[in-house]
Amino acid sequence: MSELVPQRIAHLRGEIERHNYQYHTLDAPLITDAEFDAMFRELQTLETQYPSLATPDSPSQRIGAAPLLSFAKVVHRSPMLSLSNAFNEEEVRAFDTRTREALGVAEVDYSVEPKFDGLAVTLTYRDGIFVQGATRGDGEVGEDVTQNLRTIRNLPLRLDSGRLAKPIPFIEIRGEVLMFKVDFIALNLEQADKGDKLFANPRNAAAGSLRQLNSRITSSRHLSFLAYGAGAVEGFILPDTHAEQLECLQKISVPVPQERRVVHGVDGLLAYYREIGELRHKLPYEIDGVVYKVNNISQQSKLGYVSRAPRFALAHKFPAEEALTTVLDIEVQVGRTGALTPVARLAPVFVGGVTVTNATLHNEEELRRKDIRIGDTVSVRRAGDVIPEVARVLLERRPVDAREFNMPRTCPVCGAHVSKQPDEAIWRCSGGLFCPAQRKQALLHFANRRALDIEGLGDKLVDQLVEQQLVHTPADLYKLNLRALAQLERMGEKSAQNLLDAIEHSKQTTLARFIYALGIRNVGEATAKELARHFATLDNFMAADETRLQLVPDIGPIVAQSISTFFAEPHNIEVITQLHAAGVQWPEQAEKAVQLLPLNAKVFVLTGTLASMSRDEAKSRLETLGARVTGSVSQKTDYVVAGAEAGTKLGKAQQLNIAVLDEQQFLQLLNTNEMPSAVG
Ligand code: IVH
Repeated sequence: MSELVPQRIAHLRGEIERHNYQYHTLDAPLITDAEFDAMFRELQTLETQYPSLATPDSPSQRIGAAPLLSFAKVVHRSPMLSLSNAFNEEEVRAFDTRTREALGVAEVDYSVEPKFDGLAVTLTYRDGIFVQGATRGDGEVGEDVTQNLRTIRNLPLRLDSGRLAKPIPFIEIRGEVLMFKVDFIALNLEQADKGDKLFANPRNAAAGSLRQLNSRITSSRHLSFLAYGAGAVEGFILPDTHAEQLECLQKISVPVPQERRVVHGVDGLLAYYREIGELRHKLPYEIDGVVYKVNNISQQSKLGYVSRAPRFALAHKFPAEEALTTVLDIEVQVGRTGALTPVARLAPVFVGGVTVTNATLHNEEELRRKDIRIGDTVSVRRAGDVIPEVARVLLERRPVDAREFNMPRTCPVCGAHVSKQPDEAIWRCSGGLFCPAQRKQALLHFANRRALDIEGLGDKLVDQLVEQQLVHTPADLYKLNLRALAQLERMGEKSAQNLLDAIEHSKQTTLARFIYALGIRNVGEATAKELARHFATLDNFMAADETRLQLVPDIGPIVAQSISTFFAEPHNIEVITQLHAAGVQWPEQAEKAVQLLPLNAKVFVLTGTLASMSRDEAKSRLETLGARVTGSVSQKTDYVVAGAEAGTKLGKAQQLNIAVLDEQQFLQLLNTNEMPSAVG
């Protein structure tokens, strides 16, 4: 190996993490997604070629690792406490009085923060490297979710101690894992599209995503981390106020809440509560109150603890947000994949800071379960603050003429018949892209920020383009001209030109974005990235049959079938050809294309007896992954798999210094397509 390789790997890791921080923590990207993706892929390729250089703090870990059978238990070095709650002003005043009296001071300085509605975790860093992360559990013992936490893009895998006087040898960082509102909405749309279970709110979605035995799923879920303090610290003295400690965490690249403040006395607390209450609905994440903490750490120690909660802190909770209204009507919306979603039209009602006029009823089963009828009085909740939802029906107020709603048997938009798979909750329109509703959604999907990113192509515009028959397929977007656009409603020459520029700009993309933009059923953003990484070229991807598709990590029979159904439709091929002809393109990855299969050209020798499979099976599984299996060990051998009672071949391997995999490592390799980290 050239000595330049470790250098290049270190450089890529540094750059990738720097840009991750710019993008996910500072919200200020310095490079394009395509440039980022290119660096990421280069790192992955190098780490695959040189498995001995892989490390747990590499950003490549952010895509997840081998699934676990269960989570290990972790005993917290210092317990993870809970907070006492206050629900009104009196309780806050009582807290402040108690605190002043206990400290013998006239006024207390408080450090104040939002109370994040996610789930608590503790992160352990040794010598600046993230080595372990755990859930709160019962406060004493939690679950080891290290690999899942590594996938969280704004969670530092390595602390940046450059701005400290000296590095911190050991620190536990405490905080909350959250799902941002936008990511929650996107996830539920995807879940609904797949006919999968919906999450009730971002907190449940975050918890469900973090507690996955398969960290690749966690990686696809867009979680975020925010720190609210430090646990145990060794070999370093943190500043002596809570506010400065958060400042210090921020310095070493740990994300901390921007809405934190230092306030004086109880009036400061109550003013902060009102300020955040007003800001609440504008925050990107959910909060359920604010937290007050005595700022001075020695004062904190003096106050101590009552049972499981510190006396120096208090959570001031916001009231629950629900309101009553009536269901005026129930209508059906048609989504991108033809899914029919019942939607309640409501008498306008003010809840959670906004006026709500619609609530999703999700699907027919949900509608029946809650027994919602037209004319009913219902309690509306902003589920997780974002999507208004009908919490329950007030049966005692049901009018005699309340009407039951039945899902239509034809599409309300195009009239095509609707059908439902026996194991699904969702009815779908069979009209495909002939259905204007599906066509509009397909165009919006194609243009979305995570797909081809055509700025300015919003729903009003798409409505007009489809209704005036200017655009039938995404490829038609590239045929639009200034004259056609400028005559549309609310479209001046200037905005028409801006749109044309955005369309032109979208032609330079990445393969992953392109695959995602096609809108293949069950192929979300994460799957698209995985496919692009695996196949490297569109031709390879399109040529893959269902068996080959299933060799891609996380692609099972359902997704594989969706993909092959998509490409079996001549119309879709036609659109792809036209997009190509219009100039849509991405950087090809020539060198990756040849090493499509994960073990391409690697030479294996099997020796000894494996407990879990016959030698023939082991051979054929290796070959499916692209490896060559030979009978004798030589300089050309890359790996020897040694089962029980391995004989001379093992000795020969050791002599020639060839990597040896034991059975467990071999199984790990087959299951993950990745080299186990410690290969002997
Ligand atoms: S401090 C020593 N600060 O609330 C006190 N907790 O009810 C430790 N939480 O388990 C917690 N936002 O998960 C603290 N800004 C914040 C918080 C916060 C949310 C959660 C945390 C904790 C629970 C206690």
